[in-house]
Amino acid sequence: MTWTKAIVTGASSGIGEAIARRLAADGTHVVLVARTKDRLDSLAGELGGTERATVHVADLGEPRDVAEVAQLIDTDPEIDLVVNNAGFGATGPVAGSELDGQLGQIDVNVRCLVQLSHAAAQAMAPRGSGAILNVSSVAGYSATPNSAVYAATKAFVTSFSQSLHSELKAGGVHVACIAPGFTRTEFQDRADYDASKLPDFLWQTADEVAEIALDAAAKNKALVVPGALNKMLVGSVKPLPSALQRRIAAAFGD
Ligand SMILES: NC(=O)c1ccc[n+]([C@@H]2O[C@H](COP(=O)([O-])OP(=O)(O)OC[C@H]3O[C@@H](n4cnc5c(N)ncnc54)[C@H](OP(=O)(O)O)[C@@H]3O)[C@@H](O)[C@H]2O)c1
Repeated sequence: MTWTKAIVTGASSGIGEAIARRLAADGTHVVLVARTKDRLDSLAGELGGTERATVHVADLGEPRDVAEVAQLIDTDPEIDLVVNNAGFGATGPVAGSELDGQLGQIDVNVRCLVQLSHAAAQAMAPRGSGAILNVSSVAGYSATPNSAVYAATKAFVTSFSQSLHSELKAGGVHVACIAPGFTRTEFQDRADYDASKLPDFLWQTADEVAEIALDAAAKNKALVVPGALNKMLVGSVKPLPSALQRRIAAAFGD
């Protein structure tokens, strides 16, 4: 399945950049959204310039910037794919952390995602076509110490996206959610999370995750955990008593 025009949030690095590259390679015009203008400009140049990509600089933790992106979705009928990928984690205990960093995760990972999903759903439902692709995390499956707010935001994204999938399914609009595990991007460094002790086999590349994510959007898969190992981990933790789930999650959170 190919898309005409896609908005990709968090396109300046990692999974979002990989999604934007794949979309552009398939002939989709991509609107690249993030804060870091020089990165977006250079990616747009690589993708073929203004014919193939548009740069939209936005801080998605700022209501005014989010409203501008929502307006783009409202007013441009060519946009048939909205990828809510921008997000970040702040590692550390709730007590002792800067409150701004904790609330900022809710602003970007949740508030922005809901606002842009709402704009996309409103624009696409009357057309009976289009897709919303939301990036969650395996972290959303378990309550994780030192990532309490991040894990909760991703639990929200997974739940919200599946509800929206059910609401829009009969009307022809796709809603897919992916919940990646450890993926080699800038995420861990930015989160101040020491991932150095994690074995190589736990990791996926951003490109692997991007391919699975776009396949999920095209096939309208409500929720996909990328990779056999992540699927197995999630599947084996889900039936356990919550006290045991918390102990396992703590091994990754500390
Ligand atoms: N990497 C992992 O292990 C992993 C696992 C599960 C889920 N995820 C999820 O995957 C998504 C992408 O993360 P990634 O791994 O690709 O990490 P990344 O390399 O750090 O990329 C994050 C992207 O989000 C953008 N972003 C962050 N805050 C923003 C803000 N306030 N306004 C606008 N853009 C903002 C960043 O752009 P600027 O800094 O230029 O604004 C960047 O493009 C996130 O939702 C993350 O939660 C990642």
